[in-house]
Amino acid sequence: MTQSMSFLIIAAMLAFAPLCLCGKTSGGYLYPQFYDRTCPKAKEIVYSIVAKAVAKEARMAASLIRLHFHDCFVKGCDASLLLDSIGAIISEKMSNPNRNSARGFEVIDEIKSALEKECPHTVSCADILALAARDSTVLSGGPSWEVPLGRRDSRGASLSGSNNNIPAPNNTFQTILTKFKLQGLDIVDLVALSGSHTIGKSRCTSFRQRLYNQSGNGQPDFTLNQAYANQLRTRCPRSGGDQNLFVLDFVTPTKFDNSYFKNLLASKGLLNSDQVLVTKSAVSLQLVKQYAQNNQLFFEQFPKSMLKMANISPLTGSKGEIRKNCRTVNS
Ligand code: HEM
Ligand SMILES: *[C@@H]1O[C@H](CO)[C@@H](O)[C@H](O)[C@H]1NC(C)=O
Ligand SMILES: *[C@@H]1O[C@H](CO)[C@@H](O)[C@H](O)[C@H]1NC(C)=O
Repeated sequence: MTQSMSFLIIAAMLAFAPLCLCGKTSGGYLYPQFYDRTCPKAKEIVYSIVAKAVAKEARMAASLIRLHFHDCFVKGCDASLLLDSIGAIISEKMSNPNRNSARGFEVIDEIKSALEKECPHTVSCADILALAARDSTVLSGGPSWEVPLGRRDSRGASLSGSNNNIPAPNNTFQTILTKFKLQGLDIVDLVALSGSHTIGKSRCTSFRQRLYNQSGNGQPDFTLNQAYANQLRTRCPRSGGDQNLFVLDFVTPTKFDNSYFKNLLASKGLLNSDQVLVTKSAVSLQLVKQYAQNNQLFFEQFPKSMLKMANISPLTGSKGEIRKNCRTVNS
């Protein structure tokens, strides 16, 4: 080999070195054009089916955003959430955060089968979740962003991961923040992403404790506006009515905007995990105030934090697989 040739090879290696550093956790393998050659219509197909589903039921946008969150916090954004219990797999759908709560799986199925028709065995279920979350945000009036693609699907699920990693509505502020930090997300991401609660609904069982027995002393949560609490009690009794639904943002329940943050400042956050953002940390209180005051700022941060979340430990390259059916691993 001549000297000039080896020089060229070394120079080429150096030139491409930064590309190779962008490995697994930084998600350098994900990029928005991933399907441009193999399935050019993928993004349109996802959008049109999400749009149809949201037109039929506005809440579906919220449900689809939440699926992406509950997927990414368990073993990364790998569609592990979508697997049903079959054989050795115990579905994450049975976990405390998901049972009787997570929804929208049929919409994901419809998208997947349309994509299988258009370009078989090409678009991952994990990417469908990421695209559907973005489209749902846009369709509800929120900000848009480009979604990096190229995630692959897991060959397993983790029920314990789902129970342990996804924050519960009665977790303390510190516990919630710790669970975000375990995923590489910070307090800014926590506050911005909690802004998803500007749309969608919660069951009575997720916030009842606040209405009747917040700290085990028979007293309600006094950080909740008491007139609002009285309203909530009429349809969320001490016992029974567990599945009764309440909008997370009572001002604009289906519009993606910053009224969630305004509600928090008025002590009208529905979940305890919402209200602690203003009562337990000066830093997060400051962020809530900024987003309440400035919708634009919220709309700038939300995509950044969604991108960080969508980038949690994706399976890339030859890891995992492209499922043919999002509910089952390939045989
Ligand atoms: C910060 C910690 C969080 C906690 C404790 C939490 C908890 C909850 C709970 C308890 C519900 C109601 C579930 C039910 O009663 O069926 C809910 C709904 C929802 N959550 Fe969160 N959440 C958190 C963060 C997030 C994040 C980061 C996102 C998205 C990025 C998100 C998106 C949603 C959406 C859109 C809904 C409404 C779903 C629907 O209507 O189907 N949440 N959340
Ligand atoms: C949180 O809620 C769960 C489920 O209702 C309950 O088992 C647990 O005791 C609660 N934790 C606290 C700290 O109140
Ligand atoms: C409140 O919760 C505590 C601890 O879970 C329990 O011992 C107590 O009986 C409850 N009080 C009321 C009034 O429900």
